[in-house]
Amino acid sequence: MCGIVGYTGSRQAYPVILKGLKRLEYRGYDSSGVALLKDGKLNVYKKKGKVADLEEAMIGKDIDASIGIGHTRWATHGEPSDRNAHPHSSSNGKLAMIHNGIIENYAQIKQDLVKKGYQFTSDTDTEVLLNFIEDIQKNNDHCSLEEALRIALKRVSGAYCILLIEQDNPDTIIAARKGSPLVIGIGKGEHFLASDASPIIEYTKEVVYVNDYELAIVKPDELILKNLGNEKVTPYITKLDMELAAIEKGGYDHFMLKEIFEQPSTIYDCLRGRLDAKELSIKMSGIDQHVNELMNANRIMILACGTSWHAGLVAEYIIEELCRIPVEVEYASEFRYRNPIVNKGDVIIAISQSGETADTLVALEKAKENGAFIFGVVNAVGSSIARISNAGAYTHAGPEIGVASTKAFTGQLAVLMMLALAIAKHKGTITADRYNNLLLELEGIPEKVEVILKNAGELKKMADKYKNASDFLFLGRGYNFPVALEGALKLKEISYIHAEGYPAAEMKHGPIALVDDQLPVVFIATQDTYHEKIVSNMQEIKARKGRIISIITEGDTVCPTLSDDYFSIPAVDELIAPILTVIPLQLLAYYVGTAKGIDVDKPRNLAKSVTVE
Ligand code: G6P
Repeated sequence: MCGIVGYTGSRQAYPVILKGLKRLEYRGYDSSGVALLKDGKLNVYKKKGKVADLEEAMIGKDIDASIGIGHTRWATHGEPSDRNAHPHSSSNGKLAMIHNGIIENYAQIKQDLVKKGYQFTSDTDTEVLLNFIEDIQKNNDHCSLEEALRIALKRVSGAYCILLIEQDNPDTIIAARKGSPLVIGIGKGEHFLASDASPIIEYTKEVVYVNDYELAIVKPDELILKNLGNEKVTPYITKLDMELAAIEKGGYDHFMLKEIFEQPSTIYDCLRGRLDAKELSIKMSGIDQHVNELMNANRIMILACGTSWHAGLVAEYIIEELCRIPVEVEYASEFRYRNPIVNKGDVIIAISQSGETADTLVALEKAKENGAFIFGVVNAVGSSIARISNAGAYTHAGPEIGVASTKAFTGQLAVLMMLALAIAKHKGTITADRYNNLLLELEGIPEKVEVILKNAGELKKMADKYKNASDFLFLGRGYNFPVALEGALKLKEISYIHAEGYPAAEMKHGPIALVDDQLPVVFIATQDTYHEKIVSNMQEIKARKGRIISIITEGDTVCPTLSDDYFSIPAVDELIAPILTVIPLQLLAYYVGTAKGIDVDKPRNLAKSVTVE
């Protein structure tokens, strides 16, 4: 949640920060602001709304500065407003700070500061931390900002990535992180700081991922990393392998549409170099080097949130079927606060697009403490979850910017399928024929996705027809049950239509009461083990006059007779079907959202990377 950008060097800082904030808007977009420092003068500008609103408000303002920090916010403490927007200024006006995260013990600190006479201009926890730092400086013989920050951070609990600049320090940004990401780009005589690499990529490919409990003192020509014990830490420089084009819209109206249409190539990239259709083998170093841990797992627990959790549910079905290992799928947010039983010999699969979701990260730390082996299925290279994992496989879907996850989900499914196939082969729980067939089916997926995308227009027409519905029901069975959940999630996220996903049989235990001639019911009814059963469920909805939309396998002659509208996908093995069946649902949600005039890349209240619990 919240995007942060900082710059110190010889360029004008504001354009770099503004462009960076636009790239990070997926992390939050209810207000934004910048602080610029020039000749001992700190100028702070902030505005409720999107970064474009800030940009407009900045016209005619003094932006001349070669050091500055900027923030785009997803509100936690305090409503979205100009005064709660970051950067915040300290009481004496000498410091400006931006923050991504939550200071959990802010209330106590605030009380103490209020007793000392501090006044607050916002409702944020950030302003409390900032004045706390000012107060520490005051009470410690006006110690350096770095020292004051170190003392403060030892006293606060919660998560943070903060950037600080100081009136009397003309070229230095001080940064610190715990639980919220921070990347520092290394240029020639300049440094860039950001929540992820997207604001940095066009200036330099050399970056340092700052670790938890590290402080960075960043000047144009110098980067010093220290731990909270004031010992220097050697920065580990990584080369980015991301291209600028990957984070631009490339002619599409929205990032979400671009990302949906990228899926043939992102799935191909995910399989490339791993799935060898000629040799009929899967080579993934993360798996090959840890075959024993994986294949001898007593149990697999999958931890994830949101769409990634839905990928976990699909994986549960696939892994149990192919590998005969018991699998449990848990919301990371629940796992971390209960007293789960995790034993040595348990394998945890962590699924995350961003690799920064706070609940998933903390859940993994907890599981790791208990001796579990962690396998990460992550999209963002170098992210915190990728780094905490013992082993893993990247989804290689490239940067996903639309808030509603699309290509990352299909990438996750492809990786999880390869993982299940590899374990099953090592364990001997799959026949050679089944293994070979599934492998070839998987290889053919990008082409089948192309076929679906060619018919996107049909889904646009359906979207126009159903866009005014107030509720939707999504039903699926077996491997397609999680897809029903995902279809409902996509629709509610970006169209604000209430939608529920359900296992089709379970529908009779409640949701059927909602069915009338206004309710669209989307069935994922492809040819599989459950086909006859789901046809019966369609009959039940039809008998109650529900409006049926079905996703079917081409050539199916039964479902069309029961459906008001249907969309055909190419035939595919039922284990792999979710990679295909989800795509029409992504498109349906996209077209309904855009038909309703919603900014689908930045739907209200959501953020892409949930770095607060
Ligand atoms: C947010 C995003 C979802 C995502 C979920 C989990 O809710 O809007 O698209 O599925 O977080 O995020 P992760 O990055 O861990 O997959």
